[in-house]
Amino acid sequence: MGAKLLINENKKLGRINEEIYGHFSEHLGRCIYEGLFVGENSEIPNVNGMRCDVVEALKDMKIPVLRWPGGCFADEYHWKDGIGPKDTRKRMINTHWGGVLEDNSFGTHEFMELCEQLGCKAYVNGNVGSGTVQEMSEWIEYMTFDGVSPMADLRRKNGREEPWKVDYFGIGNENWGCGGNMTPEYYGNLYRRYQTYVRDYSGKGNTSKICCGANVDDYHWTEKVMETAFDHTPEHFHGFMDGLSLHYYTIPEVWEKKGSATDFTSEDWYRTLSKAYRIQELIKKHGDIMDKYDPEKKIGMMIDEWGCWFDVEPGTNPGFLYQQNTMRDALVACISLNIFNKNCDRVKMANIAQLVNVLQSVILTEGAKMLLTPTYYVFRMYKYHQNAQLLESFAETAQIGANGYNVPDISESVSMDESGNIHITLGNLSLDTVKEMEIEFSEKKAKQVTASILTGQMNAHNTFENPETVKEQPFIDFTVTVNGTIKLVVPPCSVIHMKVKA
Ligand code: AHR
Repeated sequence: MGAKLLINENKKLGRINEEIYGHFSEHLGRCIYEGLFVGENSEIPNVNGMRCDVVEALKDMKIPVLRWPGGCFADEYHWKDGIGPKDTRKRMINTHWGGVLEDNSFGTHEFMELCEQLGCKAYVNGNVGSGTVQEMSEWIEYMTFDGVSPMADLRRKNGREEPWKVDYFGIGNENWGCGGNMTPEYYGNLYRRYQTYVRDYSGKGNTSKICCGANVDDYHWTEKVMETAFDHTPEHFHGFMDGLSLHYYTIPEVWEKKGSATDFTSEDWYRTLSKAYRIQELIKKHGDIMDKYDPEKKIGMMIDEWGCWFDVEPGTNPGFLYQQNTMRDALVACISLNIFNKNCDRVKMANIAQLVNVLQSVILTEGAKMLLTPTYYVFRMYKYHQNAQLLESFAETAQIGANGYNVPDISESVSMDESGNIHITLGNLSLDTVKEMEIEFSEKKAKQVTASILTGQMNAHNTFENPETVKEQPFIDFTVTVNGTIKLVVPPCSVIHMKVKA
């Protein structure tokens, strides 16, 4: 008899915000330039400069929200450098990332155009570290004001009549580090001040404000920022702070030597996956602090940077953070997204770093070529959870691992979509053991099941020579029993999506 996965379809635990499946794009390496934007005159097929192949793939994956322009770049970015005729835009050095020329040809208009092509929400990150309150206030006016004003008129002069909808606005990034090396009390006060001038010109509360949260386990930051910046007066609550960010990267070894993306051992595999699991503890502990101030969970935890961070690919610019992506990345994505789903009462957004060609990307490009990474397929298989209701579920697991780095063998989460279909996503974290399972519902009986799988050797990955080594395939190794349960055989090192009509 297989291990049980018990699903209580009668217990809905909350809506899984589509933003949990969000992404992040920074002016870093080849993410924006080459990866997303090639310019109108490029021979690579594009619409207004945006790569058609990349846009199509991202739409198919149902990208819900995109964060821009950083990252550390955000607190050095002066938005007026990126508007107006391209030949007069400021050229400068991207001091933070590789010391390369930044010609500002991708700016506010281009980002909003990209979001429109993708059909996704816009998350713009403002500059607190080196920018003024006036600069931030004017950026909001430029993007969102409909009436007559200096900034709205400037926007019109630059070719955009209608204001844009800015769904999320970040008040600084990593202000404890690259965003100004601030103390939490100092930042908390700056947050209060800067956010005041992020005006709601729509009158509909269109723009949610995100406060800069902690790095990893810096609970002191969360405590002090909440204490300082949280507005205790209920009538002031709305629109004061809608989200608090959290950054957590999965690094297999240590910061100074992170480890190779493709050349690793089974011990590295389990160590990496156990580190990915740490996000569960971080959500709990930061969440407990947030609960003290905000027990109703009105403020979302926005995990707006997460993913694997390895050593760069040999021979590439160390400042470009270009890394390959294997089945190990796929399992890290599987674990993380299942955890985010299960904490959807507090986690309202998550943005994997970064979209194309940087860190744990869903897409890699080389000139006109593009490949989809194993992480891409996980996001595409999980897209059915977006805006669905989380269902209570419990899997019988065994502890597996190496050298004290232990993880449960199975990671799972389950949701019900608007049409009543049940979506199960699960991963087998073992490198060598097949897991027989039986899925049982409280009352319902499975009638029709379709499924797909992503599987391969632990370091299997796609290259420009062999772009389809790892890809989503139909999964048929299951049976629906007369009792309406589902028996399945889950191969080692695999991620599965099942859609159940019951
Ligand atoms: O994603 C790369 C960098 O990691 C971001 O710029 C920064 O916010 C974080 O430290």
